[in-house]
Amino acid sequence: MPSTVRFPRNTPSAATANATTTATTPARLACIALAALLALLAIPSQAHAQDREIARVASPGKVLEVAVQLAPDGRATYSIARGGTPVIAPSHLGFILGNAPKLDRGFSEAAPSQTRTQDDTWEQPWGERRYVRDHYNELRVHLKDFKGRNLDVVFRAFDDGVGFRYEFPDQPTLHQVDIVEELTEFVVAAPGATAWWIPAGEFNRYEQLYRKTPLDQVGQAHTPMTLRTPAGLHVAIHEAALVNYSSMWLRRFEGQTFRAALAPSSTGPKVSRAAPFNTPWRTLRISEDAAGLAMSDIDLNLNEPNKLGDVRQWFKPFKYVGIWWGMHLDQESWSSGRKHGATTANAKKYIDFAAANGFRGVLIEGWNKGWDGDWFANGADFDFTHAYPDFDIEAVAAYAKSKGVHLIGHHETGGNIAVYEPQLDAALDLYQRLGIDGVKTGYVADAGGIQARGADGKIHFEWHDGQVMSRHHLLVVTEAAKRHIAVDPHEPIKDTGLRRTYPNWVSREGARGMEYNAWGTPPNPPEHEANLVFTRMLSGPMDFTPGIVSLQGKKQVLQSTLAKQLALYVVIYSPIQMAADLPENYAANPRPFQFIKDVPADWSDSRVLNGEVGDYVTFARKDRNSEDWYLGAVTDENARTLNTKLDFLTPGKRYRAQVYKDGPTVDYRTEGRHDLAIEERIVTSKDTLTLQLAPGGGQAIRFDATP
Ligand code: NOJ
Ligand code: CA
Repeated sequence: MPSTVRFPRNTPSAATANATTTATTPARLACIALAALLALLAIPSQAHAQDREIARVASPGKVLEVAVQLAPDGRATYSIARGGTPVIAPSHLGFILGNAPKLDRGFSEAAPSQTRTQDDTWEQPWGERRYVRDHYNELRVHLKDFKGRNLDVVFRAFDDGVGFRYEFPDQPTLHQVDIVEELTEFVVAAPGATAWWIPAGEFNRYEQLYRKTPLDQVGQAHTPMTLRTPAGLHVAIHEAALVNYSSMWLRRFEGQTFRAALAPSSTGPKVSRAAPFNTPWRTLRISEDAAGLAMSDIDLNLNEPNKLGDVRQWFKPFKYVGIWWGMHLDQESWSSGRKHGATTANAKKYIDFAAANGFRGVLIEGWNKGWDGDWFANGADFDFTHAYPDFDIEAVAAYAKSKGVHLIGHHETGGNIAVYEPQLDAALDLYQRLGIDGVKTGYVADAGGIQARGADGKIHFEWHDGQVMSRHHLLVVTEAAKRHIAVDPHEPIKDTGLRRTYPNWVSREGARGMEYNAWGTPPNPPEHEANLVFTRMLSGPMDFTPGIVSLQGKKQVLQSTLAKQLALYVVIYSPIQMAADLPENYAANPRPFQFIKDVPADWSDSRVLNGEVGDYVTFARKDRNSEDWYLGAVTDENARTLNTKLDFLTPGKRYRAQVYKDGPTVDYRTEGRHDLAIEERIVTSKDTLTLQLAPGGGQAIRFDATP
């Protein structure tokens, strides 16, 4: 949403902004000496010679190795090597607690560590690929601290990454666990690494431009944070299965040493849990190239299996249109009045358009009362069961049904879950009764601006990614699942692979999406999508809302060619894909619109054919419901020539390649951005295509298996 830049509320850094100069006195000198000593003690250990390795596990193909060490003072560290070369140098494990002494040093082995192997293949109800292999060696380390308190740390070593988590058993001395800070460290071993990251704890949540800096210039980053060592090794640090816990930010402590910084809570401890419980998995994808990061499934594998049964009975991936872009262009409004977008007549127009062009879904925003006045970061007036008078929800739902179209409901909360949660059951019941089987939720408020009712009955301000919101999102998702409704949050908590466990949590925003091309200052730059693929997209599907074939925002043009808009349907994965432009713009662009009508949203296989973080990427994906393949390639502001082997196609089969590419005069900086060339040719798996991408450009190809 458009908003003015403000200082973050409640940020940890804000607390340090009050330093004043004081005269140096002997007492102060003593304080400084003590502080220096404490700082020294806090410096993370490099592998001390006296450290004792207590356990070790290698990945199934012996690509990665994890070791666990104990220092003489009983501090526990882990380290990771790839092919014998250190990737993560010894990095601390532990916690500071608010209601008990910290769990930090004085560890010993409570019992010998255990290992086990898992090799399983599971089926996704929907996704980038149908079958996922889950192959790892597990190491369970049983630690006990000097107070006799037990803490297990479990590592899973895959060939393409490592996950580890803490498991708190229930014990008389530690039943209620108030976590003030997690002390987990990530010490990146190879000096001189480069990072791609967005800051955490800033007002604009995850909706920021990616930065590329030396790793030792990162401040406090969201995950996934991606880095590349001078030797070309790629690492992405993230987390999996974030349930009833606070999100992990990465705060650089010194050099290339990062510490977990849990998103704050308004009520003291960042996490409050009763044992037994497990933390989320801390994950590291590790690959020789950027493509390998995007091919890894470790975060999904570290989530629990599907708890919802056969969701394909009620959710299958689809494409949708909606009353949406008009508001972002300011041609229509969410609020009532002359410009109101969600009228009965307009909704019927969109339903007709969807039915005529084979789109299953129609999103309708601004249908319910509460949008008049200042709803941003307020949300006090939102009423999730009553429509504006010019929107006859019963009639619209019946009309959609008669046309075989499914409405997608909308619950914008303005970040006020104290107003939303008491209405949640009734709001979802209404949708269920009307056959509305998808809901887009929204939490438009600055970071730290979520209003939640605490146990004390009072309103507290929370972070979009703290423990309160991790609970809230799962509440919405599980309540929606009971009613066979799919959920797509905007301004969400980050994705940590929970779609495996709750496959009605189908997509989310969680980065700068297309809306920034309507009104963002600046709009998304040409490198944006090549950044997203290797950062935000490592976490899971994004409701990016591609397909602005007009290339026209509110008072600005898109930094994109037309071919790139088509390529985004293959490059940015989501099981619900919007055709986001206005119907009249599709009517004026029938040829590119054909690709948007053809491209599926559900895949049986996905491959990254090439790519470099922030520069370019090419995906090939196979339709789950036919033998067709699709290819999408995007570049940043630089033109590129990518020679791409078609060896993913079935050998011996002929395909009609329908190619949508940047035309001869194309350039995202000129009117030539609209220049789209469309051609057809017969190809087989033995062919190599030369993809010519213009500055800010892309290419989209359908490989029709029935030429
Ligand atoms: C921000 C969302 O990202 C956008 O898609 C939505 O239209 C507005 N909020 C209003 O809810
Ligand atoms: Ca948004």
